[in-house]
Order: sequence, then structure tokens, then C-alpha cells
Amino acid sequence: MASYDVIVIGSGPGGYVAAIRCAQLGLKTACVEGRDTLGGTCLNVGCIPSKALLHATHMLHEAEHNFAAMGLKGKSPSVDWKQMLTYKQDTIDTNTKGIEFLFKKNKIDWLRGWGSIPEAGRVKVGDETHDAKNIIIATGSQSSSLPGIEIDEKIVVTSTGALELGKVPKKLVVIGAGVIGLELGSVYARLGAEVQVIEFLDAITPGMDGEVQKTFQKLLTKQGLKFTLGAAVQGVETSKTKATVTYKLRKDDSEHTMDADVVLVATGRKPYTDGLGLEALGVEMTDRGQIRTDSHWQTNVKGIYAIGDAITGPMLAHKAEDEGMATAEVIAGRHGHVNYGVIPGVIYTHPEVASVGKTEEELKTEGVSYKVGKFSFMGNGRAKANFAADGFVKIIVDKASDRILGAHIIGPMAGDLIHEICVAMEFGAAAQDLALTCHAHPTYSEAVREAALACGDGPIHM
Ligand code: NAI
Repeated sequence: MASYDVIVIGSGPGGYVAAIRCAQLGLKTACVEGRDTLGGTCLNVGCIPSKALLHATHMLHEAEHNFAAMGLKGKSPSVDWKQMLTYKQDTIDTNTKGIEFLFKKNKIDWLRGWGSIPEAGRVKVGDETHDAKNIIIATGSQSSSLPGIEIDEKIVVTSTGALELGKVPKKLVVIGAGVIGLELGSVYARLGAEVQVIEFLDAITPGMDGEVQKTFQKLLTKQGLKFTLGAAVQGVETSKTKATVTYKLRKDDSEHTMDADVVLVATGRKPYTDGLGLEALGVEMTDRGQIRTDSHWQTNVKGIYAIGDAITGPMLAHKAEDEGMATAEVIAGRHGHVNYGVIPGVIYTHPEVASVGKTEEELKTEGVSYKVGKFSFMGNGRAKANFAADGFVKIIVDKASDRILGAHIIGPMAGDLIHEICVAMEFGAAAQDLALTCHAHPTYSEAVREAALACGDGPIHM
């Protein structure tokens, strides 16, 4: 048994970042993790492995579709699925070992096992109970399935199973056109699978800018993904090697079926707080099963904090990281702050999709007068050279003040480009501030500047 200033439960991006910041601020810190490796869902079975597969299959796409036009002749590569999975695993390993190194460097104890909180100020891991002046719950989330669907992680899979299929399926049915469904759907479409996405709503990527949704669906359709929208999945029947998905079209309630070799259930995630003992502690929860916290991430039980997917807000690794750092600052007696209005969201398909701040749809509902500046990557020299001219940058500003309210990008490196706008928004910048900033030529970022110019007197290259 040991005594700590802070014990963090969970070592995902929220938890490990919180632990590192606590240690940097001079707090004696431990982190509880029951997996064999640190890093949580993100590093082990989420963001990082999916990005390895997205990168590998994008390279394949480039070889198959663009190499010849660039004068690179020869047979395009064939897919060695086993090797691709090894590459994915190596990527996971280097990242999880990196966290282990950072824990050692910052003198953070890794308490191996699954943690619970028998009482405030105590954390139990295995047979040992440790004292903790402060506890940060960072236990993340798990896939949530639908009634009538049994996950076996072989034929009916969540994102976890989809990252390690025995072979590339001939036909993949994806339930849910959200982030996971489209990222992993893209991976398998590029590997030659027939990918059919079934989505409950009438548009893909709910909550995104409407124009981006339409362009995104068009581009994915061009890449071979097929969409059935406005369809509520009722259930999935499986045999030894196949599955049949039953769905109802919302417009006329008609029932249909679709066969698949593999079904990916990507209908959202739910907070994971099992086994922590929160009920006995009297920790308040929301009716959606999230831990309720105050503006300083403290629960109603003094000294117990919670961050990341286990609480309210978007289920994003970087949102959890920010909350982790801010909570550490609060515990150390400093001022922790997260600006929830400037949290970017990125979909790592090709092209990438990125957004921050308000959509036009939201501003209309709120009755805010706004102006839109838009620029197509067709007018960007670098994008044209790289066969990456699909998509656009759209910046939305307050009509009267020109202050940036939101931005939506679909195009090459959108996930990186968005951050220039995030910084601008943090500084309360106007579009004119971006427009007057010199941008190196030729870069994709010039499209951001041009969109900013489009909020004023107009872009140059359009
Ligand atoms: P999601 O919430 O993004 O999408 C789920 C989709 O399933 C929705 O479009 C919903 O309308 C649809 N759906 C729900 N019930 C249905 C039914 N019965 N029939 C047909 N469609 C149905 O959830 P997703 O993709 O599972 O991702 C989970 C979480 O993980 C999200 O919060 C996401 O932001 C996060 N994530 C983020 C990534 C990133 O930042 N790049 C990557 C992967 C996940």
C-alpha cells in the first residue's frame, strides 16, 4: 500500500496526460491500468491502429489510381494483409511503449490491474488498497451496440474486431455513417471489399456542416462506398460465416435485408464505468450514464474528479487530454481551463474532414447573422499537383464583426489545416487577421487564407 497525491484510473489519452501533468506539477502520482499496455482505447484499439490502416490503404489507393499519371509505371502493390496487421501492431507498440517511457521519466507508478474506489481517498487495485488525496476517473468508453445484435468480434464486430479481421471480407456492411463507420469503411473499400453503409438519419456524419456532408458522401461514393440512408437497423442474424442485416426504411416502414461477410456495428460509444463502485459512493450520473462533474471536473464527491469519454461532451481523445491537463492544474491549485467552443473534430478518411466551432445550421437556429467565405481546393496549386483538389475550406464569420465563429474543411490534410483556425479562434481573431497573414506558397494552407479572403473582398485564385 502506498500513498499518493493523485491516482488516475485509466491510462488512455485523458488519463495518461492527466498523470504526466500532475507529476510535472510536483504531485506524487500513480496511474491504474488493467490492460497489458498503456494508452487505452485510443492507442491500443482506436485512433492509432486505425490511422496505420488508413495510411497503408491510402498508399495503395495512390499506387492504384495516381502513380501511372505521375509517370510511375509498373504493377501496383498487392496486399499482404498479415504484414499490414504487423505494421499496425508495430505502430501500436511504439506508441504504448512511448507512454511507458514517459511514465518512468516523470516517476509515475503504473498500478497494474483494474481499479475501484472503495471509499473517497482510496483506490483498490487487485488485493492492494492505496491512499489518494485526489482521484481522477479516466476510464473512457466502450462500443454501444443495438438491441437484437450480438457482437462476436468475428462476423459481427465493433471497431476493435474490425481492426484485426482474419481476412479482408468480400462484403462489409457498416451500421452507422459516423466517424468509425466511415474511417473503417474506407479502409476496407480501398482493400477491395464491397462496403455498404446503413445509416438511420438522412445524411452521413450527423451534426457536421450540411455542405460538407453532401460533398463527403459524393466523394466516398466515388471511392466505391454505397449508402442506404434513412434506414433503421432492426437486427442481425448470423450463421457460421455470414450475416444478414435487417433494416426498415423510415420513409415507408418497409423491411429489407442485406447479406454480409462481416458487419461492423458503429452506432456510437457509451461511458465505461463498470466496477468502479460509483453507485455505492453516491457519485451522481447523468441519465445517459455519464459521470456528472462541475466546471472543475470534480464529481459531487470531494476529491473525486472525472474526465474524457466518461463525462459529458464529445468523445474525442484530444478533448480528454485537455480535460486531463486542466484537472491536474486544478488539483495543483492552479487555473485549469478548457474552451469547449474550440475543440476540432477530424475524420481521417481521404480526403480528410475537419471542423471547429459553429455550423451554418447551428447559427441559423441561434438567429446569428453570419457570412461565409469558401474556397475550393481546385484553386490551390499544391492540391492540383498532388491529385488532391477535391473539397473546400469554409469559414463562417459574424456578419458585423468578421470574428470567426466556425470553420469546416474537406480536403487534403484538413485535420492539420483546421488548427490555424483554432488558434485564430482562441485569440478571438477576425477572418481578416487570417487573410492578412502571409501563407507560404505552395501549401494547402493557402486555401485557408483564400477562404478568409472570401469573407472579405474575395479570394484571389477563384
Ligand atoms: P457516431 O455517433 O459518430 O455515429 C453513429 C451513427 O450510427 C450515427 O450516424 C447514427 O445515426 C447511426 N445509427 C444509430 N443507430 C442506428 C441504427 N439503428 N441503424 C442505422 N444507423 C444507426 O459513432 P461512432 O462512429 O460509433 O463513433 C463513436 C465515438 O468515437 C464518436 O463519439 C466519435 O467521435 C469517436 N471517434 C472519433 C474518431 C475521430 O476523431 N477521428 C475516430 C473514431 C471514433
